[in-house]
Amino acid sequence: MIPDVFRKCFNFHAANDLKKTGLYPYFHRVESEQGPEIIVDGKQKIVVCSNNYLGLANHPKVIEASVAAAKKYGTSCTGSRFLNGTNDLHEKVENKFAKFVGKEEAILFTTGYHSNLGSLSSLVGRNEVLITDKLDHASIIDGCRLSFGETARFRHNDMTDLERQLIKHNEKGMLIVVDGIFSMEGDVANLPEISKLAKKYGARIFVDEAHSLGVIGENGKGSGEHFNMGADIDVVMATASKSLASIGGFIASKAEVIDYIKHNARTMIFTASLSPACVGAIDAALDLIACEPERRTTLIKNSKKMKSAFESMGYNTNNSNSPIIPLTVGSDLVAFKMWKMLFDEDVFASPVTTPAVPEGQAIIRTSYMATHSDTHLDFILEKFKKVGKELGIIT
Ligand SMILES: Cc1ncc(COP(=O)(O)O)c(C=O)c1O
Repeated sequence: MIPDVFRKCFNFHAANDLKKTGLYPYFHRVESEQGPEIIVDGKQKIVVCSNNYLGLANHPKVIEASVAAAKKYGTSCTGSRFLNGTNDLHEKVENKFAKFVGKEEAILFTTGYHSNLGSLSSLVGRNEVLITDKLDHASIIDGCRLSFGETARFRHNDMTDLERQLIKHNEKGMLIVVDGIFSMEGDVANLPEISKLAKKYGARIFVDEAHSLGVIGENGKGSGEHFNMGADIDVVMATASKSLASIGGFIASKAEVIDYIKHNARTMIFTASLSPACVGAIDAALDLIACEPERRTTLIKNSKKMKSAFESMGYNTNNSNSPIIPLTVGSDLVAFKMWKMLFDEDVFASPVTTPAVPEGQAIIRTSYMATHSDTHLDFILEKFKKVGKELGIIT
């Protein structure tokens, strides 16, 4: 028989099997803007799975700036940043972002995923090592795969294991790469210890602030500011697809590092630049993070309320310490059932199953926004209580 690369597709039934049970949670159709209340498959739901942490994705000033940018620059830059795709708005937000996080320069990629892929693969080459937390985001893992350097992983937030890897690779140039807030677990990287170890063994530090920018730190600058040690972080990465209410990804660092990435990252050179409407939204969102700090205060208040309420109900919220609160529910099947029961109760949540989590430790990943009202939050809690009891997850 002649081998056919499509054979695996014709034999792929997992998604259809799940659809037949009515528990398929993916690719549901949203027919409204992304707020705490959305229309999914024609019905209103309360959202508990958005990364629109500050609620800026439908802020009038962000929309206005996005429209104005499209009107001025058109809908597309039709080329790579490297060639015809850089405009003055890209440079404006790069300067604004660099200033915001206290670095010399920044560069704007088309997505956060591109930022990690391009910066990690270009920064770490042959005979150098990427030292990563086992629970780092997939885009970091893929950036490591694309790099010619070696990758060594340490157990999640385990500083003894990190030190073991630093000792093992001490002869080589090393870059420690961590999420500031981990995307599924909602806990914060132990940057004070990471920094001590990095200094001891001569490694550099790269922090992915995707979920921490706008969320933690006195001024919303992320995990570096949270620990009052932004200067110890050599490379700051942030995506614009969460608190910044757009799409795109930043890398900020010393001028020489940014210049090197700019001229070597394949995901900068071989893809078209971020469209003007998205850049305009980032520009306005960066201003709003600075001038509407009450959004961050409300977000933190909402997150604390939910964590403590879930814990008093008997849910395991793990070590989360942020607007991301994962609830461990058991097998993948339980997570899919729970998702569906919540959906039928008009709560839109996210199940996270294997291989993203170990077998038997599926979670419902909940996340909060500054724009959730107490009425929304109480509704969510009531439904999680009801469904959790029906499934025997809580008593
Ligand atoms: C920790 C982390 N890094 C990077 C990314 C990629 O960002 P983007 O959505 O901008 O591609 C994500 C997105 O989910 C993320 O959670």
